[in-house]
Amino acid sequence: MHRRHRGETIRRRADTPSSSRDRGVSDDVVSIDSIEPDLAKASSTGAGDVAHDDESSLETGSRGTSASASSSDVEDVPDAGWWPSGGFPGLLDGFRAIPRGAHSRWNSPPTPLRELDETQVPKHIAIIMDGNARWAEKRRLPRTIGHERGVNALRQVVRCCGAWGVRTLTVFAFSHENWGRNASEVDELMALLETAMRDELPLLVEEGVRVEVIGDLNRVNEGLRDAVDRAMTATKDNDKMRLVVALSYGGRQDIVEAAKQIAREVAAGKLSVDDVNEHTFSSYLSTYDKTLASRDIHFAQAPDLLIRTSEQRLSNFLLWELAYTELYFANTMWPEFGEAELRRALHAYAKRDRRYGGRS
Ligand code: FPP
Repeated sequence: MHRRHRGETIRRRADTPSSSRDRGVSDDVVSIDSIEPDLAKASSTGAGDVAHDDESSLETGSRGTSASASSSDVEDVPDAGWWPSGGFPGLLDGFRAIPRGAHSRWNSPPTPLRELDETQVPKHIAIIMDGNARWAEKRRLPRTIGHERGVNALRQVVRCCGAWGVRTLTVFAFSHENWGRNASEVDELMALLETAMRDELPLLVEEGVRVEVIGDLNRVNEGLRDAVDRAMTATKDNDKMRLVVALSYGGRQDIVEAAKQIAREVAAGKLSVDDVNEHTFSSYLSTYDKTLASRDIHFAQAPDLLIRTSEQRLSNFLLWELAYTELYFANTMWPEFGEAELRRALHAYAKRDRRYGGRS
């Protein structure tokens, strides 16, 4: 490992073996200065390719500020070189999750979102954090390293949401269908979620984030359940932002559970069939914000914006809640997603005309 500086050329080690080139992976040599400042920031970690998507360049007014440049001037990048399939013990450490507090773009304070006004910012964002495993595989790294890098991306996104006025962030951490992955990857994911839940807790407390976890927690192990309980208890009075983590969650399963609960209450005479409407149905879903009694309108239930990285489908996420949500698909793998990419998504959202089917 050595420190690299802006202006140096980075050759990403994991993409350099001849076998990778044979598979069509690009040689991936970039000069940081040749990329526009926000995107240079995104690439300076050596974490992945520069983010591209359909949106044209950002009109941020904050690009290339000293605030964003200073945090990304220097970054640890593993040395380039030949990479045997078995790897070298310890060398993967350069790709592992960057600890909270370490000097890195994943920990730098977000640049203010001055170019958008409060009304243009979605109050509730939902994210399908996809592509962790493929990001790692493309670099011939273990899939679990992709997931670890995904935690870095999420940390940065949480900080941006807090700084930019997003009041609720709902993320898909593990789906009902993910239980079908091979046992060792499931175990690794559970262990990672537990570690992340514990390690990130001080930051979440500091940032005023209230953590809620939804999904079938009966299926997760005791260690993770305990970490979830601790995070929810430690943050329950925070009111700056709500982070909803969907874990062992499926949208269809959630709807079925709500329907069963309603049926039970109707059968028991506690609820009349005539009282079942969209509003009451919503209140039986796991995403329902139980503190809505406090009537903070910004802690509303339905996401304004759904972001998915790398693919373009809903994959059983928030099926009821997304009925009128704006969809944004980013052509990046989740480990590459960060401040610049989120800013781009918010710019795209600001241009949308939300009609809810009600007017032309
Ligand atoms: C999808 O990538 C991602 C996941 C299954 C896990 C995402 C979880 C995190 C980023 C950790 C979140 C942490 C907390 C505390 C909420 P994939 O494996 O499906 O990627 P692929 O599509 O390339 O296979």
